[in-house]
Amino acid sequence: MLITIDDAVTRLAGGDVVALPSETVYGLAGLALNEQAIAKIYALKGRPATNPLIVHVAHLQQAEELCYVNSQAKRVGEAYWPGPITLVLPKKKSVPGLVTAGNQTVAIRIPRHPVFLEVLTRLNQPLAAPSANPSNRTSPTEARHVEELFGKKCPPTVDGGKCAVGLESTVLDLSGDQPTILRPGLITRAQIQDCLQRQVGLFQDPSPDPPAKVGQTGRNQGAPSPGMGSVHYAPRTPLALYPTVEEFLISAKFKPGDLVIVADGKDATQLDAKGYLTTPLSTDGCPEEVAQNLYGVLIELDAKNAPSMHLIFTGAREGINRAIWDRLYRAETK
Ligand code: TXA
Ligand code: MG
Repeated sequence: MLITIDDAVTRLAGGDVVALPSETVYGLAGLALNEQAIAKIYALKGRPATNPLIVHVAHLQQAEELCYVNSQAKRVGEAYWPGPITLVLPKKKSVPGLVTAGNQTVAIRIPRHPVFLEVLTRLNQPLAAPSANPSNRTSPTEARHVEELFGKKCPPTVDGGKCAVGLESTVLDLSGDQPTILRPGLITRAQIQDCLQRQVGLFQDPSPDPPAKVGQTGRNQGAPSPGMGSVHYAPRTPLALYPTVEEFLISAKFKPGDLVIVADGKDATQLDAKGYLTTPLSTDGCPEEVAQNLYGVLIELDAKNAPSMHLIFTGAREGINRAIWDRLYRAETK
């Protein structure tokens, strides 16, 4: 069911959960300081209680009520908030352990989407919001995809159009001595290093090439980013990845009825000429465009119940493409 901003504010204030658009992906929002609302989020997503939620705030003062905003966090926040980066910081007592899955840190973000910001401002309370998908499925980037993913259990949703970024926020742990990226996103390691004027680690990069660079971690001993399991963002249709068109053709894994996705629309010409029916993610491989379209295409093609999907992504593993590779490796059928 689609609802208005007014309706969303009323429902949230009453302790209910609703899906809201953010600039990254749609979020399943509930009052961050209300344990019943948080429990509803975990139940609806089928999310393990060990995987903490991101708390969204309207401004820095609100963040300071929830966590210790150190000087590095102020720098990154001033440079990129409101925007697609989440900071993991030492939490204050006000934040329920249920939100942080018992961790002494809390993940905080000021989103940029005008609808999300308006709801936050009108409520004047922080909102916990994981991506609005059942646990381990692909995140929605359009209101109708929330319904596609949840079916009859779909939460009331505010339609804020198609998300501009299309991938979840960069998660940066600033709670310890070594700044570490727990989840790559649109805001890249190079940008953060520039901003902080120091080396930033990269935790648990699943892509085999170049070798994973594992940074030291902050205060979350053992499991710095509980949500970064190796199977995630997954469509139901088996998905195979190829780094070049040639590898796709040589693999000979394509069967009649399978679907082919090309990140770079220029690769479609060659494949269409050979009789494959392809869906492009961008006209010329621009990483921002690939990121914006990736989840929507996966969700829509997944609904066709084809035997398999094949995705060709030739982007180098750097910058924004690193975040795309990260999601693709996790979405790939192992
Ligand atoms: O773009 C986004 O971040 C979206 C929008 C709605 O804001 N939200 C989102 O939430 O992607 P979610 O719950 O799907 O992903 C949150 C990630 C998970 O990998 C989780 O483990 C990690 O952030 N996280 C949350 N709190 C943490 C903490 N205290 N320490 C380390 N990682 C944390
Ligand atoms: Mg998620």
